[in-house]
Amino acid sequence: MAFVEFRNVSKIYTMGEVEVAAVDGMSFDIEAGELVVIVGPSGAGKTTLLNLLGGMDSVTSGVVTLDNRPVSDFSEVELTYYRRYDIGFVFQFYNLVANLTAKENVELAVQICENPLDPVKMLELVGLGNRLDNFPGQLSGGEQQRVAIARALAKNPKLLLCDEPTGALDYQTGKAVLKLLQDTCHNTGRTVVIVTHNTAFEAIANRVIHVREGRADKVTINRRPVSADTIDW
Ligand SMILES: Nc1ncnc2c1ncn2[C@@H]1O[C@H](COP(=O)(O)OP(=O)(O)O)[C@@H](O)[C@H]1O
Ligand SMILES: [Mg+2]
Repeated sequence: MAFVEFRNVSKIYTMGEVEVAAVDGMSFDIEAGELVVIVGPSGAGKTTLLNLLGGMDSVTSGVVTLDNRPVSDFSEVELTYYRRYDIGFVFQFYNLVANLTAKENVELAVQICENPLDPVKMLELVGLGNRLDNFPGQLSGGEQQRVAIARALAKNPKLLLCDEPTGALDYQTGKAVLKLLQDTCHNTGRTVVIVTHNTAFEAIANRVIHVREGRADKVTINRRPVSADTIDW
């Protein structure tokens, strides 16, 4: 059994009379330790599938499993623990608490965790060892995203899920954040999933899942992924 399995997963949103199949019969696998890029145009269902995998939304039909556990069958309580203990999230707009320092933002997140890693060590890992006491407003966008990555990693999650993590960043900063995510995967053996509309990111992944109209159109395995600092877009 693969580390992550999506089997014929659908998510249908009903808005009045209208039904939108955001995810529409999607199947794919992810192996442990892989850097995975999920790529597709806007509206393809990328955020929806990430929310289903991260336990933030529930499937209409189909099966989602992580590490042999049936996420798509979880109760609300089980989903709460799953989001707390098993999943680290990184969003496009960082979502830091504005009146807490970098260190406090990471400490806050690990308060509800089972086996957290040291917040200061995580901030050092992302290159912010000298910015521990800065508030988000005193940090650049790229630095704020590094805090968000440190916060997600400090939870010691089984899976790191990143939705358009460079979407709000300029080119050079975006590239540095991408490199950090790739290094995190390589150096910690953690499974990292990056959702993007940017096809240039495909080259850095072990596995590329192409999403179109709510389906996994094609899956590509890269025998030789390249370093994130060598790609251009
Ligand atoms: N909560 C929701 N209610 C209704 N429609 C939604 C909802 N979330 C997403 N959708 C629709 O599902 C489709 C896929 O959305 P999304 O997963 O956000 O795509 P992507 O992240 O690839 O841009 C879009 O047509 C979007 O409008
Ligand atoms: Mg999206």
